[in-house]
Amino acid sequence: MSRTILLRGDHVSLALPIREDFQDLSLWNDPEYRCYGSKPNAVITEDPEERIKKILKNWHREHYFSIIRNGDETFLGFLSFSSLISAQELHIGLLRERGKGYGTEAVRLGLTWTFAIKNVPTVVLFVTTDNKRAIRAYKKAGFKEVAVIPNMLCIGYTYKDMLLMLAQQDTWLKENRAFVEDCLKRSGYPLDALPPLHIIQ
Ligand SMILES: CC(C)(COP(=O)(O)OP(=O)(O)OC[C@H]1O[C@@H](n2cnc3c(N)ncnc32)[C@H](O)[C@@H]1OP(=O)(O)O)[C@@H](O)C(=O)NCCC(=O)NCCS
Repeated sequence: MSRTILLRGDHVSLALPIREDFQDLSLWNDPEYRCYGSKPNAVITEDPEERIKKILKNWHREHYFSIIRNGDETFLGFLSFSSLISAQELHIGLLRERGKGYGTEAVRLGLTWTFAIKNVPTVVLFVTTDNKRAIRAYKKAGFKEVAVIPNMLCIGYTYKDMLLMLAQQDTWLKENRAFVEDCLKRSGYPLDALPPLHIIQ
């Protein structure tokens, strides 16, 4: 099945999800994925067809991407944004091929989407303080640490502290300009709107 690619990076791309992406339900039960507080429940309990319909219907307020490896088009995981007042909250989970730099690149593509294409001023995320790999990936992608919120997440009978991280449009676009320009060019978006890179409202 051919994919609708929305942003193309060096090694991975962000694409519209297709129903097959929701079918390998065993991956959603991955203990590592679950222990960091991601929310796979909707995907586990819902029919993939229904899930896709909902995602497409809600696309204007909750952008949901599949992360695809370039070349062989292997589906790696999901990246999404949900609205938090006027900021956006980023969520990501790789179901396979972790630790190879794909997560960091996908987050940078996600920030390119929100900052350069959607013109959103602020993106935040929450990550449990014990999720060292995710924190490292987020920092490499340009997120800054803001504060630790004690006991924010309850998993089973255990409370976990969460780190609030922030990326801001002006600073991030300045620091990542070459990446953003390459990515927009490769993905077929015009560059003449730079800066502040408003392309789609
Ligand atoms: C979090 C996630 C998206 C990161 O993507 P990834 O492709 O695995 O990460 P990357 O390979 O891009 O970067 C990981 C970095 O963390 C480092 N790292 C790995 N384990 C680490 C640890 N225990 N402590 C510190 N750093 C660690 C790696 O060395 C790498 O940094 P480097 O490039 O400087 O060497 C992915 O691992 C994932 O989906 N995990 C499960 C779900 C999850 O935790 N989602 C986030 C919820 S907020």
